Amino acid sequence: MGVELKGARSLIPVDDSLEELTRLAETAGIDVLGKTTQALERPYAATYIGPGKIEEIKILVEELKVDVIIFDDELSPRHQRELEKIFGEDIKIIDRTALILDIFALHANTHEGKLQVELAQLEYRVPRLTRLWTHLARQAGGRAGGSTGGVGVRGPGETQLETDRREIGHRISAIKKDLEDVRAHRERHRTKRQQTELQVVAIVGYTNAGKSTLLNRLSDAGVLSADMLFATLDPTTRKVKMPGGREVLFTDTVGFIQKLPTEIVAAFRATLEEIAEADLLLHIVDATHPNAIAQIDAVEDILAELEVDQMPMVTALNKADLLPAGRDPIRELDIEGPAVVVSAATGQGMEALLTAVEAVMVQSMKPLQIRLPYKRGDLLSLFYERGQVDSEEHAGDGVVVYGRLPARLIPYFEPYLLTNA
Ligand code: GTP
Repeated sequence: MGVELKGARSLIPVDDSLEELTRLAETAGIDVLGKTTQALERPYAATYIGPGKIEEIKILVEELKVDVIIFDDELSPRHQRELEKIFGEDIKIIDRTALILDIFALHANTHEGKLQVELAQLEYRVPRLTRLWTHLARQAGGRAGGSTGGVGVRGPGETQLETDRREIGHRISAIKKDLEDVRAHRERHRTKRQQTELQVVAIVGYTNAGKSTLLNRLSDAGVLSADMLFATLDPTTRKVKMPGGREVLFTDTVGFIQKLPTEIVAAFRATLEEIAEADLLLHIVDATHPNAIAQIDAVEDILAELEVDQMPMVTALNKADLLPAGRDPIRELDIEGPAVVVSAATGQGMEALLTAVEAVMVQSMKPLQIRLPYKRGDLLSLFYERGQVDSEEHAGDGVVVYGRLPARLIPYFEPYLLTNA
């Protein structure tokens, strides 16, 4: 069920948004039997959609033997309750958020990923908790592997609803505590990684744009790539050798999608923080997608929400193998900044992409001049490996080097700094 709100700024036309919802549903293992839309000035306070539409859907539900009705927009707890009353116990009412959370639950692999999803699911459920909802949530919870699936033990004088709320409250606290532990552990790992001081490129992009395929292509990483939405939930990081010989880490991140609710962005903040840690963003766009421009906007909105929109960025316009000859996606999609047309599937444009990434990396390095004593040959090698040396002169007491270094390496060279532009 899609609603077109008149006058509202929507990134993607309602039919295309429903098409995307269909793909999300299929990814969650749901067969889509029918679709319908309604144009409204504003949502109905109680039922979101109008009474005529509800009657129409009731008939469809009978005819098609529907089990689930999925709304493309986030339903308020009240909408959800009213719709559940109208359609009865046998029909499950869910919205885009619940569907995305369900897919996340199916695809989370790491301990942290699973905890984040469960937390987001529980926080989504608490305000929507009714007897009916709990009963349904239990069925879903079992499948999604959540631990809300068990039947609660009712305390003295408690209604089932109170028991459920209490149980969920306990579970939320427990997950938050576990997440803190996992994050402390990850922080220690990250510190270890920083000691290698490799520069990091975060691959970002709309879901299904080809991030995993690209990482595979660049690194033989063996990352799962699948024609389904949100195949990748947990970030994967691989080392890639650049044309200039420098080694760089590329990290794959969760796919972005329009109408991604803020709660979900918040739940994945820790994972998305990987993006903030990066030196450069590589934005992969499916250049063949009819809504490519809207998808680019959706990604940019989320990057702005994560406050990383000022980071240096290279755009890769992917799936070039499917583009008819003579098309110029860089111009058609009005891409600003460095951009390269590629095909992660065939390997077309990979050298050019890495060259563009390297050029932007070098530009974003800091120029400096240092005098290294001869005994610091280790630092001289590090400068050559990770930075860009423009000149090297031998003076009596050491080597004077002009060049550029990634900001994260500068502390090592601080004692020998002559100028730091
Ligand atoms: P999420 O996990 O949803 O974020 O997706 P992703 O961006 O990691 O996309 P993924 O690499 O899984 O690719 C999505 C689909 O696009 C897969 O079916 C890929 O085979 C396909 N694909 C990726 N790159 C190309 C390409 O260059 N050409 C063609 N024809 N298909 C591609």
